[in-house]
Amino acid sequence: MKDLNIGLVGYGFMGRTHSNAFHQAGHFFKLPYRPVLKAICARNTDRATAFAENWGYQSVESDWRALVARKDIDLIDIATPNDMHAEIAIAAAKAGKMVMCEKPLARTAAEALTMVDAVESAGVPNSVWYNYRRVPAVTLLKKLIDEGRFGRIFHYRAKFLQDWTISKDLPQGGEGLWRLDVGVAGSGVTGDLLAHCIDTALWLNGGISSVTAATETFIKERKHNLTGKVEPVGIDDASLFLCRFANGSLATFEATRYARGHKALYTLEINGEHASAFWDLHDLHRLQWFDHRDEGQLRGWRSLHITDSDHPYMKSWWVPGLQIGYEHTFIHQFADFVQALGEGKLCPPTFRDGLATDYVTDAVLASAKSGKWETVSSGTKGSK
Ligand SMILES: NC(=O)c1ccc[n+]([C@@H]2O[C@H](COP(=O)([O-])OP(=O)(O)OC[C@H]3O[C@@H](n4cnc5c(N)ncnc54)[C@H](O)[C@@H]3O)[C@@H](O)[C@H]2O)c1
Repeated sequence: MKDLNIGLVGYGFMGRTHSNAFHQAGHFFKLPYRPVLKAICARNTDRATAFAENWGYQSVESDWRALVARKDIDLIDIATPNDMHAEIAIAAAKAGKMVMCEKPLARTAAEALTMVDAVESAGVPNSVWYNYRRVPAVTLLKKLIDEGRFGRIFHYRAKFLQDWTISKDLPQGGEGLWRLDVGVAGSGVTGDLLAHCIDTALWLNGGISSVTAATETFIKERKHNLTGKVEPVGIDDASLFLCRFANGSLATFEATRYARGHKALYTLEINGEHASAFWDLHDLHRLQWFDHRDEGQLRGWRSLHITDSDHPYMKSWWVPGLQIGYEHTFIHQFADFVQALGEGKLCPPTFRDGLATDYVTDAVLASAKSGKWETVSSGTKGSK
């Protein structure tokens, strides 16, 4: 078995989920390559060294350019804030490396397009970490849709609710708070939370053709951690939109960091001619399912426990009845990436799929500004 030498950039929240995936994937899935945690890159060498010791990285780099230039690295994995994605990914592709990148692919679709051009002209394998596609219940939902069990789909409904930025005393910018700095993040909850909902929706229900949106910034000024000054807040704190899918269905999406009591409540519901389904990240191993074709006296919502060996990914885990969690979605994505590599295929969502989401988030932000329905550029094609 050949080695797959990985260079990770960023040791924060996602740096940990990815490192765990690199370690675990080969223990639970049959992989054609052996993942090797070759190097971790971050600007603070002491902290990067401690991370390398904890997670078993063989070496440390403090400049991502040096990492990209290394001959002994096959795959560059980008787990940095959004403003760094494009520069690192483009340099990595030019150096002939495979690239995995955190979501959103970029701050705008224009920036994402430069990344798609780079990986496609270099012909390097690429993937975006939209991990929720690989929650077994969500993967099963995709299968049920593809089998035609819903009939015509009328509605798609998604929400992603949090409550961590309600305090007006919370500063913006810098470590841990770059999501509130529009220059770094690109947007607020639209690019951060709705991007997840949109990626799942494009995958499950096909392309979005037009949107009409409203956004709000509840706290207009915050101290900036890097300048020390009170500065305007440029991100959207809440973002809601209605949209039409190319398949004729009508949908609503909502994301906010101001829903007191909710920490990461990602829910989605699909209503079709014959069936409906509902999924909730807080109960991620369950899929709520209603089938109108069931015998009348027993018809009703069923709560499916997605832990059986005939459920997606589950035969690789424990025994039926025992559930898995959040971190497994990253293990699944990495395992799928390596298996696809062995077959000479790309692992969706590719950078091009990530671009499709950025076209939708651009249209949402444009509509919130214009107050009008906006057409989604190239958004009529869903990803495979
Ligand atoms: N897939 C998901 O569910 C999910 C969840 C959270 C975050 N994300 C995405 O992952 C990315 C990272 O988010 P996070 O929550 O891990 O952030 P974080 O702040 O926890 O970590 C960011 C890391 O990037 C490093 N970094 C910043 N600039 C750098 C540079 N120039 N060179 C090297 N390292 C640099 C920081 O030191 C830090 O280690 C973002 O794009 C975010 O949107 C995705």
